[in-house]
Amino acid sequence: MEQRNDLISRDRQVTFHASTHLRDYAHGALPGRVMTGGRGIMVNDAEGNQFIDGFAGLYCVNIGYGREEMAEAIYRQAKELAYYHTYVGHTNEPLVALSEKIIAKAGMNMSKVYYGMSGSDANETQIKLVRYYNNILGRPQKKKIISRHRGYHGSSIAAGSLTGLASFHDHFDLPIAGILHTDAPYYYQRAPELAGISELEFSRHCAERLEAMILAEGPETVAAFIGEPVLGTGGIVPPPEGYWQAIQVVLDKYDILLIADEVVCGFGRTGREFGAHTYDMRPDLITIAKGLTSAYQPLSGVIVGEKVWSVLEQGTGEYGPIGHGWTYSGHPLGAAAALANLQIIEQENLVQNAADTGAYFQQRLRESFADHPLVGNVRGVGLMAAIEFSTDKQRCQPFDPSLKVGARVSAAALENGLIARAMPQGDILGFAPPLVINRSEVDELVDRALRAVNRVTDDLSSAGQLGAQ
Ligand SMILES: Cc1ncc(COP(=O)(O)O)c(C=O)c1O
Repeated sequence: MEQRNDLISRDRQVTFHASTHLRDYAHGALPGRVMTGGRGIMVNDAEGNQFIDGFAGLYCVNIGYGREEMAEAIYRQAKELAYYHTYVGHTNEPLVALSEKIIAKAGMNMSKVYYGMSGSDANETQIKLVRYYNNILGRPQKKKIISRHRGYHGSSIAAGSLTGLASFHDHFDLPIAGILHTDAPYYYQRAPELAGISELEFSRHCAERLEAMILAEGPETVAAFIGEPVLGTGGIVPPPEGYWQAIQVVLDKYDILLIADEVVCGFGRTGREFGAHTYDMRPDLITIAKGLTSAYQPLSGVIVGEKVWSVLEQGTGEYGPIGHGWTYSGHPLGAAAALANLQIIEQENLVQNAADTGAYFQQRLRESFADHPLVGNVRGVGLMAAIEFSTDKQRCQPFDPSLKVGARVSAAALENGLIARAMPQGDILGFAPPLVINRSEVDELVDRALRAVNRVTDDLSSAGQLGAQ
């Protein structure tokens, strides 16, 4: 305990943490937590607490914690070749096998994989490839990229601009020029004037709004559309019925590339290999990270479809080698970790488990929360889900933000030994447990979540804040 407090006070002096209230942490008003280890879906801290990690870290530890096979694969590769660059045709053994595997799993006319270290840098690559593609095709004005409000694509300058959440733009002078945001495919939070429409009609409405934006900008200026198959950090929102089909029609009509950001959905989370498979999307480019290595090493990638690849080839034919690359592109330790991770996913049938145990998880959440007085909406697919707190089951009627209902439920869950994430922009509790979760663990997770929601409901009710909405 002494040691733990020491560590945190040293940390407060010297570490700048991601997504943190900097002043409160540096000056001790925000508690710290030293994470020490984990096994399966459980993760431990230095105070001896054990939590069900209902969010797999940041939706990434898909094969669960403490996998010795992963440590061994990384160790073996580190002894053999810890690093060599992949510029000008240099490669390494795990990288070749990994690229073959990814292309085979993706299908969809994908051709090549470019590697990075994070989802953000992979989306930076996407933006550069879209620009290069249109320059080579002699369409220098076709450069704008349309993303969606509530989309999450990273937090660097350009990827952070693709992100459609205000807190990632405010005070950073983002978004940069040339990046636009259209409507979120968020049926439950639809505008009051759309109260009476069906999901299918709402999808058509989103596609019409996208088309109107393209026409207003000039189709000759719009290069690409980027979206997560299932909206992730923006609220864990599966697309409304017919959404991707309706969007695809518009993209085809104006020759606009589709970038599927599969950083969360890729490698099984929706119950199929890719979210694009689950929703019949036809991407030209795909972004991958997180589940690629289950976070045992940082590794991301851009999967380039044949249509774009042929133009990239043509470009280097005309202008020489492509001026794009990171020191760590195609890092052998990342590749070795990814291969070992994908092997575990195959051997343990984890994509199927995400479908089967995922269906059970979705059912248990609906049974437990659909009629709960604090809950307006329960949604999800495979092993990703959210419950949204609201006083209305048909359409979101948010609580007073000062009540911080989502954050309070997340804190109560932690007290009950469950990590579930309070999603930004709304009172939404998100779940994305490791894909190794089984049914009895799902039962335990849902029980703990229910205790947390009941606790906050009781607190609100005794403070007279429940009926007052
Ligand atoms: C869909 C999506 N894209 C991109 C990113 C950015 O990835 P990273 O945090 O590794 O930069 C994330 C991160 O959560 C994500 O969820």
